[in-house]
Amino acid sequence: MAKQPTILITGGAGFIGSHLVRLMVNKYPGYHIVNLDALTYAGNLENLTDIEAAPNYTFVKGDITDAQQMQSLFAEWSFDGVIHLAAESHVDRSISNPMSFIETNIVGTVILLNAARAHWGDFSGKRFYHVSTDEVYGSLGETGFFTEDTAYDPRSPYSASKASSDHLVRAYHHTYGLPIVISNCSNNYGPYQFPEKLLPLMINNIRNNKPLPVYGDGQYTRDWLWVEDHASAIDQVYHQGQDGQTYNIGGNNEWKNIDLVHQLCDVMDQLLGRPDGTSRELITFVKDRPGHDRRYAIDATKIKNELGWEPAVQAEEGLRKTAAWYLANTEWLERVTSGAYQAYYDKQYQPQ
Ligand code: NAD
Ligand code: DAU
Repeated sequence: MAKQPTILITGGAGFIGSHLVRLMVNKYPGYHIVNLDALTYAGNLENLTDIEAAPNYTFVKGDITDAQQMQSLFAEWSFDGVIHLAAESHVDRSISNPMSFIETNIVGTVILLNAARAHWGDFSGKRFYHVSTDEVYGSLGETGFFTEDTAYDPRSPYSASKASSDHLVRAYHHTYGLPIVISNCSNNYGPYQFPEKLLPLMINNIRNNKPLPVYGDGQYTRDWLWVEDHASAIDQVYHQGQDGQTYNIGGNNEWKNIDLVHQLCDVMDQLLGRPDGTSRELITFVKDRPGHDRRYAIDATKIKNELGWEPAVQAEEGLRKTAAWYLANTEWLERVTSGAYQAYYDKQYQPQ
């Protein structure tokens, strides 16, 4: 009997990773999904309680910067593929502490590449998929879009670390023939996002009647993508993408930060039954992020034409669903903000 396809997903306890793990475990009962995550502050196994007992799912607590552990993991599982999402992901943290971004995003990625190279024989039937960001392309003016041919111009420690790991993944393809794909995606939003990122932070502050800190003049522009649409794009790129290729993934959904926050405030007023305009009064313009990129926008023509992928959830619907999810899951939010979620691994996986 043929071996059950076994896929390593790194960073599967994080925001996007947990949506991807759920999709893969439910959609492919014939696969075995191994979720490797170090459970940093951003890793939360409470994102995955609905699938944690599935027979085709295993969680492994581990750190991609631990070379010995990664070599043992590859030896134990004989992975057919890797979908690599584990990273330090928050730009503001990269400005205050760049080093952990270098260690995890660059060194950790090379350690995974080395483990794949050492254990994958002639590479036939294997795939190493690196999940990356549109921030590697730098910042746009008022017009234009990032395509797969846009020159790299990363400008924050976070984006420089992701650009570096993209280059290393490509270098392993060109130098050693490792079968790889890369995707570069725009800003994700939706359930289970850590409330340091713009939308869940604002939702939590509105809920608690706290100030809504908008950086600088609020005219910075991001292209927002519903997180489950990103997970489905990753599934398609993993299964149908061409070896060695890059795919840009975006929502075709640009918002200036201040307009997005205004829209969110209005949705929250409706959902909380507050008089119109109540939440907007909480908006406070604060000191700008150093080196803040002005505008990101993705041209997702290639993935649409070649793989037939398009986002399914439109902006207004996605924003309302997001706000409603956090309001319906205040216990999740409170366990994250209090730190209680960090005890879940010991309780569930290391019972005394
Ligand atoms: P996240 O911060 O929510 O999750 C990252 C996960 O990686 C966490 O579970 C964390 O515990 C884990 N991790 C961190 N360091 C690790 C290590 N050394 N070893 C093992 N696990 C480790 O991030 P996210 O927003 O879900 O992003 C996932 C990936 O997608 C990242 O690579 C990010 O660069 C990329 N990306 C994110 C976005 C976005 O909008 N959030 C957009 C495009 C690309
Ligand atoms: O573009 C993809 C990237 O999107 C991912 O690679 C990153 O992992 C992800 O964190 C995200 O980066 P951003 O810096 O764009 O996301 P963030 O939610 O931190 O900020 C979105 C915008 O909102 C940005 O212009 C900064 C601004 N902002 C953010 C926060 C947290 C504020 O104005 N106030 C805030 O409090």
